[in-house]
Amino acid sequence: MKITEILFASHNAGKIKEIKQMLEPLGISVKSAEDLEFPDVEETGTTFAENSLLKSQTIAKALGKPCIADDSGLCVDALNGAPGVYSARYAPDRDFDKGMDKLLQEMAASNNPSRKAHFACVISLAYPDGTHKIFEGRVEGHIAEQKIVGAQGFGYDPVFVPDGFDKSFAQMSKEDKNKISHRGRAMQKLKEYLSTL
Ligand code: IMP
Repeated sequence: MKITEILFASHNAGKIKEIKQMLEPLGISVKSAEDLEFPDVEETGTTFAENSLLKSQTIAKALGKPCIADDSGLCVDALNGAPGVYSARYAPDRDFDKGMDKLLQEMAASNNPSRKAHFACVISLAYPDGTHKIFEGRVEGHIAEQKIVGAQGFGYDPVFVPDGFDKSFAQMSKEDKNKISHRGRAMQKLKEYLSTL
C-alpha cells in the first residue's frame, strides 16, 4: 500500500533535510522525531541493524505510523571492525578530530598493517504492526596515513579514502559523496522500495 506519510527517527538537522528532499518528490511527507519532539531512543544494540530497528520500531509502535531510522559507522579491518556501532562514542568528548587521532594511534599500535576499512549504513523501515524492511549500504576504502582535510565532510571523513579515488570523503562534494557513500546507497534502496508501493 502506498505510504503518504512517514516518520523519521532522527534529531540530526542534516539527515532530516536530506531525507525530506529525497522522499517529498515521491509524494511522501516526512515528520522527524525532532518535529514531533520524540525523545532520543537509546542505541543499546551491538549491530547497525539492531540499533536502526530499535529506533524505527519504538517510534512506529508509539505513534502508529511507519517510521524509518538509520545507523551507521566506520569499520576498520586492523581494529577487528572497530569503532563500528560505537563510532560516535569512540571519539573522546564526541570530538572527531580527537577520534581520528585515536584511530590512527590504535592502528599504529596494532600488529596489523592493513589500512582497509568500510563505512556501513543500515536503514530500517518499521510498520506499526511490527513488520519491517532493512536496506544496507556499504562503501569500501582505506584509512589514510594522516587526516586529509577538505572543505566538506563530518565525522571520520578526513581519514577515509574510498576505493577508486585518491581523495578523502572530506574533499568530495556532498553530491559526489552521496553517489557512492554507504548512506547514499542505502537511501537509494529505500527510495526504490518506496517507489514500488
Ligand atoms: P549515526 O548513524 O548518526 O549514529 O552515526 C554514527 C557515527 O558514525 C557518526 O557520529 C560518525 O562519527 C560516523 N559516520 C557515519 N557516517 C559517516 C560519514 O559519512 N562520514 C564520516 N563519519 C561518519
